[in-house]
Amino acid sequence: MTEDTWEQAQERWLAVDRYVTGLLAPDDDALTSALAAGDAAGMPQISVAGNHGKLLYLLARTQGARSVLEIGTLAGYSTIWLARALPEGGRLISLEYSEDHARVARASLERAGLESVAEVRTGPALETLPKLAAEPGAGPFDFFFFDADKKNNPRYVEWALRLGRPGSVIVVDNVVRGGAVADPDAVDPAVTGTREMYELVAREPRLEATAVQTVGSKGHDGFLVARIVS
Ligand code: SAH
Ligand code: DHB
Ligand code: MG
Repeated sequence: MTEDTWEQAQERWLAVDRYVTGLLAPDDDALTSALAAGDAAGMPQISVAGNHGKLLYLLARTQGARSVLEIGTLAGYSTIWLARALPEGGRLISLEYSEDHARVARASLERAGLESVAEVRTGPALETLPKLAAEPGAGPFDFFFFDADKKNNPRYVEWALRLGRPGSVIVVDNVVRGGAVADPDAVDPAVTGTREMYELVAREPRLEATAVQTVGSKGHDGFLVARIVS
């Protein structure tokens, strides 16, 4: 095979995402509607890809999650994938900064029949997390998905250590950002925050973790998976 140009490589990655997602993780009406509602409301197209949503679902199911804490709801696309992984009586809380995003996401969750499973709470997560933690019976959460403002990722991981339990799983989205994360001279707070998060995870004895880079419909990016050991 001759070497691809950059454009050919991207087209190939996109074709593979379409192939895999079409066979293994096709959007149903509720997922398609959630994306369409986000588009109609002018939201950026930054929901996880379908095959990534399915991975979140599979990780949560495999782990046996009954409670999920998500940060960054947007249109509710990843929220639907994760909420569908929960058994009867399971519960998901998704923290979202924007009232507008939350309104759209709640309607999409209702359309998906998940309004009694998933709850969207608004406000900056660093303000809603302490309120959540103060509620009787809050946590421990079995599964965390962090996909909001990247600069606060280290704080979110610290919260997961407080709100999780041994065996809880943490997934963090967008931990590669076109490779920017490997640049020690990065100044973008999203990148420096993510690097700080990696370093925190690396030195935290209560966590074991890895990160995987991805290509496809969302460009070159990746996700981190961690498990709370103790
Ligand atoms: N998880 C979604 C995509 C989330 S996009 C999916 O894959 O379908 C990131 C979201 O995080 C946006 O809706 C943005 O409003 C929200 N966000 C940004 N900063 C935040 C903060 N400080 N607290 C909570 N949510 C935040
Ligand atoms: C951005 C945020 C995301 O969560 C994502 O998956 C892709 C891009 C962004 O803010 O640019
Ligand atoms: Mg993301």
